[in-house]
Amino acid sequence: MKRNHLITAALVALCAAPAAADTFDRVKAEAGETLFDAQCRRCHTVNPSDPSYGPLLDGIVGRKAGSVEGYEYSEAMSKAGFVWTPGALRAWMEANDELIPGTKMRHVGITDPTVQDFIVSYLASTGK
Ligand code: HEC
Repeated sequence: MKRNHLITAALVALCAAPAAADTFDRVKAEAGETLFDAQCRRCHTVNPSDPSYGPLLDGIVGRKAGSVEGYEYSEAMSKAGFVWTPGALRAWMEANDELIPGTKMRHVGITDPTVQDFIVSYLASTGK
């Protein structure tokens, strides 16, 4: 129930803070970073100088899929030809092998929309 604690912590922090939209975004991004560390970090980084097995994800929102220079994508991913939106990232976390059949990213299967949303908020806060 670690995730529920995290969500509670995010909501408590939110209530204690002035009610501003950017505060909510920041709290979501912080909760998302913890979730990212737990679910994605063993294969991905958002820091260009860290080595990682999967492609670099900083600034992924708004970037063309399969476009990190020098990363060896699967053929399926390099031919994906779309731009990562928050919605595409949610679909990817839920069933990456359905969004891009033949991808070499292992199925992660994150179906909880809150968890998806927090991770997207975190990713959207990177690469600026
Ligand atoms: C077991 C390792 C592993 C885990 C865990 C993992 N990924 Fe990946 N990810 C990969 C690999 C490998 C690729 C490259 C896929 C390909 O080339 O087909 C990839 C590709 C991606 C891409 C496409 C990047 C681009 O440049 O277009 C996104 C977005 C992504 N992963 C997000 C996530 C998120 C978010 C999580 C956590 C919820 C996650 N991944 C968990 C290994 C992983």
